[in-house]
Amino acid sequence: MTDRTVAPASSLQGELQLPGDKSMSHRALLLALISDEPVVISNLATSEDVASTLRAIQVLGATVDLLDDAGTKVRVHGVGLRGIRGGTDAEPCVVDCGNAGTLARLLPGILVGQEGVFELVGDASLSRRPMGRVVEPLEAMGATIHASATGTLPVRVTGGAELATGHFELAIASAQVQSCLLLAGLFCSDALAVEVPRRVRDHTEIMLQRAGVSVRRAGLVSTIMPATSLQLPDTVLPADPSSAAPMILAATLLHDSLLRLPGVLANPARTGFVEQLERMGARIGILQRSREAGEQVIDYEVQSDVINRAPFAHSDVPRMIDELPLLALAAQFCKGETRIRGAAELRVKESDRITGTVLALRAIGINTEELEDGIIVRGSGQRPEGGAIHTEGDHRLAMLGGIAGLVSRRGVTVHDAACVDVSFPGFFDVLDALAVR
Ligand code: S3P
Repeated sequence: MTDRTVAPASSLQGELQLPGDKSMSHRALLLALISDEPVVISNLATSEDVASTLRAIQVLGATVDLLDDAGTKVRVHGVGLRGIRGGTDAEPCVVDCGNAGTLARLLPGILVGQEGVFELVGDASLSRRPMGRVVEPLEAMGATIHASATGTLPVRVTGGAELATGHFELAIASAQVQSCLLLAGLFCSDALAVEVPRRVRDHTEIMLQRAGVSVRRAGLVSTIMPATSLQLPDTVLPADPSSAAPMILAATLLHDSLLRLPGVLANPARTGFVEQLERMGARIGILQRSREAGEQVIDYEVQSDVINRAPFAHSDVPRMIDELPLLALAAQFCKGETRIRGAAELRVKESDRITGTVLALRAIGINTEELEDGIIVRGSGQRPEGGAIHTEGDHRLAMLGGIAGLVSRRGVTVHDAACVDVSFPGFFDVLDALAVR
């Protein structure tokens, strides 16, 4: 187990080119797998989660050429929309999803349209996370798919069943579940509509459109038409806003900071945290707006500022779901009580992220209370004391601990810090390079 100690900093200075977006990296590799012609993907995330997807598409028949030493540029030779071959009941094609929830949730949507039997497995943490959310709707469509008795991995899919179409209303606002069903829609005989209760990231729809599929989003409903083939064009991935978020928070909180973050993905379903910080008084400048891979992209310039409490809308939760632990830390710097509610989904992330965040923040001297669906933070308006936190193997808690160290009085030791590689390899070294002490 690796421990990392992050000392307090006085400011954050410099420019940081962040790794490619993790959500888009998974989707680009999966669509390249089922494309007819080779696809070059640039600025691919090199995180462990994306490495799991790279291995998975190779197990499923794709070949991958590495086009640079860093592994951020690849050419994927896919197998076409229906070209994946599974195994038999006795010897299924086993796909190890590692720690990657997005891979485990999206892939079944593709496998239901293939020939043969597949078995999805994962590491201990992923094997505890709910899979019923994709298994049940796919079964309702007519797919042959089973989870374990506890509704978790391993999940077994026998492809090729005829899939019913219709209008699915999801009870949870999950982009992963919605994306899974839309991918299954490629193999239906007619239009399939998927409705979510709140707005979620629509990278799947945007990328499928670029690949020539007829799919459109109207408010909370996305509708896809079946396809006979698809072709993802060469794709350059913007930087990951969920990796930008910890840096933006640290630069906001540390006096005299000036931090530039070029080329960050700014899909409106991912900008909830930045907008919330702005409502709290943060100065997050936009140097330039552009577009990449059909998505909005922003070059940010962040300067420090005093932040204050600001209303928090439940409807914004999916737009900042992965950044909520950081928001809880930000709330310490606002005098008084901040209530983060409507976030029960945090309990089924890589760890129970409500308990994990509450324990981590308490351990460094922040007054927090755990709620079933969220966290209350009673902010002192001051730097927290510091101390030691446990990540529970959760990369987002590792990043929370690192930023907490920078903005604390005494520093923070992050126990089991190596899990940060799941989404942001080199995170702690980047903090050291940007921090002025
Ligand atoms: C993701 C969606 C979110 C998010 C996860 C990545 C995606 O999960 O927390 O890190 O790429 O679609 P849910 O869809 O389960 O909310």
